[in-house]
Amino acid sequence: MKKTDKEAKISRLAIFASGRGSNAEKLISFFEEDPTVEIGLILSNRKEAKVLQLAQKYHIPKLITSREEFYHSDKISENLTKRNIDLIVLAGFLWLIPKYLVDAYPNRIVNIHPALLPKFGGKGMYGMNVHEAVHKSGENETGITIHYVNDKYDDGAIIFQAACEIRETDSPDQIAAKVLALEHQYLPQVIKELVSN
Ligand code: GRF
Repeated sequence: MKKTDKEAKISRLAIFASGRGSNAEKLISFFEEDPTVEIGLILSNRKEAKVLQLAQKYHIPKLITSREEFYHSDKISENLTKRNIDLIVLAGFLWLIPKYLVDAYPNRIVNIHPALLPKFGGKGMYGMNVHEAVHKSGENETGITIHYVNDKYDDGAIIFQAACEIRETDSPDQIAAKVLALEHQYLPQVIKELVSN
């Protein structure tokens, strides 16, 4: 479906991701037929990140950034402004968001974290590190947290959480699979609700 500004107010999302991009793809396909939401940019800090293949597949502009550029230049802000980005979704993005971006997008940067914050969050808590820590802790549930982003890791106000049970026999990989399924199930809907309000 062609998206034009005349049809409705369009919300434009930027996705920041460092890796595989399965959540990014869920978002992109969820909004593909939605005339009110457009994915305007995929940004990655890793030129070999699989998520960048989605840019080509879905004809979405992409930007690969360096540490210097991300933290010490206007290039990211300029790109976001040029593309009229309303909301930034961090879908497996491993760098801390600098204060200049948090200030420019107050309550308009959202992260998905693969555990029930405030447990199992903070620096170094990403990917399998999270699931291994959860496994070791002996918790009987884990889940996902979608939250606003501030300039600390995994610290902003919580928007949404969903939990799943951990069985005693579950390995870290099995826990990861359960959590990823929850992420795929809920992230697009939660973002849709955010942009609709
Ligand atoms: C997800 O588990 C997300 O919660 C975390 O990083 C992972 C990214 O997975 N922040 P993918 O790249 O979306 O497949």
